[in-house]
Amino acid sequence: MATEIVLNSPEQTFNVTNYEIKDEDLPEFGDIKFENINQLELDHPGASDEDYRKRRDRIADLAKNFRATGTITDVEYTDEEQKVWQIVAAKLEEIQAQRASEFYLDAKSKLGITTTRIPQLSEMNKRLKELSNFRLAPIEGLVETRAFLSWLSYRTMLCTQYIRHTSRPEYTPEPDIVHEAIGHIPNFTNRDFADFSQFIGHGARIATDEQLEELGRLYWFTVEFGLVEEHGELKAYGAGLLSSFGELENAFTDNVERRPFNLEQVTNTDYSYSDMQPILYVIPSYAYLKETTRGYIESFSKK
Ligand SMILES: [Fe+2]
Repeated sequence: MATEIVLNSPEQTFNVTNYEIKDEDLPEFGDIKFENINQLELDHPGASDEDYRKRRDRIADLAKNFRATGTITDVEYTDEEQKVWQIVAAKLEEIQAQRASEFYLDAKSKLGITTTRIPQLSEMNKRLKELSNFRLAPIEGLVETRAFLSWLSYRTMLCTQYIRHTSRPEYTPEPDIVHEAIGHIPNFTNRDFADFSQFIGHGARIATDEQLEELGRLYWFTVEFGLVEEHGELKAYGAGLLSSFGELENAFTDNVERRPFNLEQVTNTDYSYSDMQPILYVIPSYAYLKETTRGYIESFSKK
């Protein structure tokens, strides 16, 4: 039986420890609000390419279909789309061999994410459920922050399926399947990371607007741009690093101040979408991140 989720305002009563989610616990997807996906930003490389926009809309329609049926529809990617994937995935794999966390690299191979073809959300979703009881749900565009993060409380990540424009394989101003599958999805195979993500989701459901901003910063400096210490070396696990050549290389240069993770500092540090990140935070382990975040989220309900 589906329950309703409150998307735009905090819920006052919510049990932070209910993280054994079953499929029947999931709320309806139908009420999620979206920005108009036809309105590509002017800086989008596909903004003036009519065929690209049509194709992107077609793939977005499959996500709308998911919300009606609950079934993920596989995308029949074109040769051109596969080519974009092959170029980006191969280049990223080369840099990741040195820079990505060992755990991440192992997870990527467990999920069958290769440089040869675009992986389908359906197959990654099936494997994730087996490994860490985490789920993927196709989405056609950007969702407002509270709604997007709230889905994590159902151990569910909303993911786009379309791919960036062929003219700029190294760049996308919006999430695409490269960012989701190469950046985000492998991390959810880690139970501690999956639980941590779920705590962020719980937090989003009960946060005040101010706390929601703090959660957005925590998400940014961990899920998107986090570094982790592994065997005495710094490695990347954040999706924004792992899915961008420029950010991944920059993260390990003198341009960046790498600080030990401090939750209070992270939740109070502003970030910028546009420039290369000047500050990154290093966690000692996913287990540490999970436990620190648990305490932080539990404090929300006591205030
Ligand atoms: Fe992301």
